[in-house]
Amino acid sequence: MKEYYDRRAPEYDDWWLGRGLFAGRERPGWEAELAEVAALLGALPPVRTLDVACGTGFITRHLPGQVVGLDQSASMIAIARERLPHADFVLGDALALPFPDDSFARVHTSYFYCHLEEPQRLRFLAEARRVAPELIVFGSRPGPDDPLERWEERVLRDGSRWPVFKRVFEPETLAREVDGEVLHAGRWFVVVRTEA
Ligand SMILES: C[S@@+](CC[C@H](N)C(=O)[O-])C[C@H]1O[C@@H](n2cnc3c(N)ncnc32)[C@H](O)[C@@H]1O
Repeated sequence: MKEYYDRRAPEYDDWWLGRGLFAGRERPGWEAELAEVAALLGALPPVRTLDVACGTGFITRHLPGQVVGLDQSASMIAIARERLPHADFVLGDALALPFPDDSFARVHTSYFYCHLEEPQRLRFLAEARRVAPELIVFGSRPGPDDPLERWEERVLRDGSRWPVFKRVFEPETLAREVDGEVLHAGRWFVVVRTEA
């Protein structure tokens, strides 16, 4: 998984932007909804925030307040550092966060929770709650025919193929699982928030 994301880093934003291998995807309303979620995140009270599994910083840049990004992939972090020269980035494991208890006011995570199997999700929730009282989870909303849980075969530009676990949630199901409230439920995205 780490190797997959290291190799994917230079082409990762293509997925958000509908470029490269994703140029042919039909995603009506994607850009407008993404802008809506970015505005929602940007309007949160500005507090010290840890962005877990921040990737290239594509979403990190919308988070208000002092932000620290964490990711296991050095290639992802390198791109995020270039994108956000004033933020701090840490190489580390989301399931064993390298921070003392209550180091942050908020944990945000986008498109990470949905790649965890249940025991890992529970571990991540415990870690997030340990380091901050507030958690925001941003992920995919399932389409009408999408299986909620699946292994996908992902292909990179170099032709390499990687098995990736994906668990998508209806907004209320995700809110129940994290014991939180739905902040956004659109065609493409779901955002939930929980506070201790
Ligand atoms: C689908 S990407 C999401 C990136 C970013 N949050 C976004 O929304 O664009 C998943 C990210 O999770 C990171 N990741 C996967 N497992 C991790 C772990 N155990 N600890 C830290 N980062 C991890 C990957 O390196 C990758 O950058």
